[in-house]
Amino acid sequence: MRIGILISGRGSNMVAIVDAVKAGEIPDSEVAVVISDKPNAAGLAKARDRGVETVIVERKGRSRHEHDAEIVSELEKRNVELVCLAGYMRLLSRDFIEAFPNKIINIHPSLLPAFPGLDAQKQALERGVKTTGCTVHFVNEDLDAGQIILQRVVKVSDDDTVETLSARILEQEHIAYVDAVNRLTTKSLSTEI
Ligand code: GRF
Repeated sequence: MRIGILISGRGSNMVAIVDAVKAGEIPDSEVAVVISDKPNAAGLAKARDRGVETVIVERKGRSRHEHDAEIVSELEKRNVELVCLAGYMRLLSRDFIEAFPNKIINIHPSLLPAFPGLDAQKQALERGVKTTGCTVHFVNEDLDAGQIILQRVVKVSDDDTVETLSARILEQEHIAYVDAVNRLTTKSLSTEI
């Protein structure tokens, strides 16, 4: 399975996937490319350090349609079969989604459908939930709204801050993302997980 990963920032979920592929924990797979819409994304150096090709496709000066079309073309050029969004901070257009039907997945730091969008961990703390977690889901045109693949639960402590809670969720994100990619690469890609 040839995997393409889209990032906008730190790239710790991307690193978890790349390292799992390298360690053979995700068998018969290769991370073909890491694409960032931000030239200064910290994850780019981490990908290069691991010998993964990186491409920057900035939105600047392009319409959303042109930007997505260029990313699709970079993915298709490398015969990517599974697209992982890992802290990629843009909604995908319908054309992008239709280019990879049921083959684009995302990770989100809450138990969706609770707390979609930005600052999910802060939303969870403010609401006072006692458990939260992370979700890997298929991507559609709506924000954090596609079919759920898997979730991992994290307990909220009374003394949690956004930072401490986010750190514990992030540990579970790395496990969840590798697990989800594994399921999708070893079974046929299907929404019927
Ligand atoms: C993660 O919390 C992920 O769930 C969210 O954005 C963050 C990205 O972190 N979509 P990283 O870039 O993978 O370290």
